[in-house]
Amino acid sequence: MSRPLPLLPTVTACALALVLTACGGTGDARGSAGVGDPYFPKAGNGGYDVSHYALSLDYAPDTPTPLTGTATITARAGQDLSAFDLDLKGMEVKSLTVQGRKARWTRTGQELTVRPSAALAEGETFRTTVRYSGTPATITDPDGSEEGWLSTADGALALGEPTGSMAWFPGNDHPSDKATYDITVTVPKGLRAVSNGELRTETTTDGRTTATWRTTQPMATYLATVAIGHYDITRTTLRNGLPVYVAVDPHEAAASRKVLARLPEIMEWEEYNFGPYPFSSTGAIVDRQGDAGYALETQNRPFFPGAPDTATLVHELAHQWYGDSVTPKTWRDMWLNEGFATYAEWLWSEDHDGHTAQQTFDALYKRDGDAGVWAFPPAKPTSAAHISDSPVYERGAMVLHKIRRTVGDARFYDIIQGWAAAHRHGNADTADFTAYVERMAPGKDFGGIWKDWLYGDGKPAHP
Ligand code: TRP
Ligand code: ZN
Repeated sequence: MSRPLPLLPTVTACALALVLTACGGTGDARGSAGVGDPYFPKAGNGGYDVSHYALSLDYAPDTPTPLTGTATITARAGQDLSAFDLDLKGMEVKSLTVQGRKARWTRTGQELTVRPSAALAEGETFRTTVRYSGTPATITDPDGSEEGWLSTADGALALGEPTGSMAWFPGNDHPSDKATYDITVTVPKGLRAVSNGELRTETTTDGRTTATWRTTQPMATYLATVAIGHYDITRTTLRNGLPVYVAVDPHEAAASRKVLARLPEIMEWEEYNFGPYPFSSTGAIVDRQGDAGYALETQNRPFFPGAPDTATLVHELAHQWYGDSVTPKTWRDMWLNEGFATYAEWLWSEDHDGHTAQQTFDALYKRDGDAGVWAFPPAKPTSAAHISDSPVYERGAMVLHKIRRTVGDARFYDIIQGWAAAHRHGNADTADFTAYVERMAPGKDFGGIWKDWLYGDGKPAHP
């Protein structure tokens, strides 16, 4: 049971304290209820940084509480904290401890506000354990797509971009706070639970199967996944020894056999072009068409609703470098994900007897008007409803092509590999990228590309 918190007076006292002296020290110090993302202001939370999530999930379909979870979150306080927020949408919180001691909590919308029995000191590493249960929410994005917890034909599926992880576990739901994960999932015998990282154990007792998955490289919350259902599992290794774990819904097995057979070849081509693969395993999850409305670059093993085509497999695997390893600082920098993954498709086509990147660029440039690809500049989407629109994808890729044309192929591949290396397992924004490109190509002028292609409204005057 949660006892009511005097939330409003706390915030007011804190705001007053800010004006008069400082908010913190021995007084009330609440971490902010958001990290100030320009597109999703409530996403994430201030005042702490998560290093590890240990999630234990129990899936019991057709019961009043299909999901029961325990989340143990290890974090470091970035300031003195008498209270802090976690993001959690829906679900019922059953108990909550901080450092093993019962803590009070309140809930307002997606903010789960935790008040530890003793304030946390700046720099302290602390553990919060949340027990929760219920029917996890399916969240409709500002762009109309569905994420969070989705029911599928034979189980369930958790997809998190941009703010869906808060439907199935409490956390700091923003790409700027990456962490490692241990995800344990228990499902009725006969079903499988597939997640990120590597499978450590899978055991069946008393009609329940428990799988434990471990992610040892940092992962953004939006890339965490659990896929529950019937799957054909294929475990292999690449020529370089990298483990491959592919899970395919049997209904999609025939349709996806050919394209999935190319996964090793695509991985090798991407390593050649983008540099060393950043994670300790790869693979894919293929569910049925209609189980979700889009593919997603879930870390280690991208998700596909139905058998993907080759371009989509190339795209989602390219995200492992650009998006999953080098992660945007905020959702405004989305083009750093989608522009790169789209350009990967163009390069693949060029290297495999398809259209050249220049031909793809030219075909897009022919388009007129101020809708579609010219609706807004890639680095400044109009609003949260538009972060997955064509300017982020196609025009973002056009920016990369303009850079390639300016510096030549050799320098261009140095840049995209160097970018992946420089921010490996980290976060970066558009300003970091433009500065990096300028550093890597001294004497070249990118002013027009940034002004007209990256930040400028409307169709640039020159291709
Ligand atoms: N990132 C996905 C891709 O590979 C598309 C996507 C899914 C998306 N959900 C989203 C993009 C939410 C923006 C917001 O292209
Ligand atoms: Zn993408």
